[in-house]
Amino acid sequence: MLGRLGFSSAALDAKLLTGHALRLSTLELATRENEPADSAGVARVADLLQRRMSGESVARIIGARAFYGLDFLLNEATLEPRPETELLVDLALGALPAAGRLLDLGTGTGCIPIAVLANQPDAVAVAVDLSGRALEAARDNAARHGMAGRIDFLKGSWFEPLTTSPFGGEVDPTSGRVRGPLLGDVRGEGITRSSADLSPRGRGEQKFDLIVSNPPYISSAVVETLAPEVKDFDPRLALDGGPDGLAPYRIIAKEASDWLAPEGWVLVEIGFDQGAAVSALFLEAGYDDVTIHTDLNGLDRVVAARHI
Ligand SMILES: C[S@@+](CC[C@H](N)C(=O)[O-])C[C@H]1O[C@@H](n2cnc3c(N)ncnc32)[C@H](O)[C@@H]1O
Repeated sequence: MLGRLGFSSAALDAKLLTGHALRLSTLELATRENEPADSAGVARVADLLQRRMSGESVARIIGARAFYGLDFLLNEATLEPRPETELLVDLALGALPAAGRLLDLGTGTGCIPIAVLANQPDAVAVAVDLSGRALEAARDNAARHGMAGRIDFLKGSWFEPLTTSPFGGEVDPTSGRVRGPLLGDVRGEGITRSSADLSPRGRGEQKFDLIVSNPPYISSAVVETLAPEVKDFDPRLALDGGPDGLAPYRIIAKEASDWLAPEGWVLVEIGFDQGAAVSALFLEAGYDDVTIHTDLNGLDRVVAARHI
């Protein structure tokens, strides 16, 4: 049925969705294929196949997607991690020093900092997103991968939560205290702060060795023309980069240097046709060693820039 509708991965999709609906592993599905399913199971399979035929991706239906060898839970506010973004993780692992401090802007599922930290046991990270629901998924994913104590999650726009809430960390609802791996132990969001609340590690020590981002980079007009699987199911906040798709890069190029340690790097994922424009933004902002990296398909995918 899926195949006739033009789904190129119809057999695999059907197998994954059937296994999910019947709560069977791939192996169980293969070894028990001649057993009859009960009517509730058949109804669940039919329901999931119907959702797939309406254009929803298998990962979104199942609620999880693999990235850099790890599973990430999704919700309606998160983009599905894409294989192209693994290049950003490869480059981040090369750029982050031992015990390095990473900032991820627009973290979504948290896939980038979690994948980096999984491969750099001494590193710590701050992850920012404008969507509280996306941060819920990111926190769950960090906990599932044993990294809750190594990543501070902050809600807000790009660098703004670092400025207005420079303390980061999780608020303990009973004590109102915040505990974060990077920023010490200070008063939490909504709690009156005074200079006495400042931990010894103030803003001066909040510099990052590496800032990464896979921001929304599709121009507003083009978002409307995307395949239904993306346009109708991925959150617009994760896609829409403003009238020319470059709005987040302008902010990142302008402000990242305030938050970078000397010689620190910025790595941003880009659309295949944005290499020249994004490089120009970083060059104009005074960065050094501005480089475009291509993905496995030979397409421009990441711009790297060094803060001097
Ligand atoms: C393209 S998605 C990337 C998600 C994830 N980093 C990944 O690579 O799969 C962009 C993310 O940026 C977030 N975002 C959009 N506008 C933002 C803003 N002004 N400040 C912070 N995050 C923002 C979205 O909610 C979304 O999670």
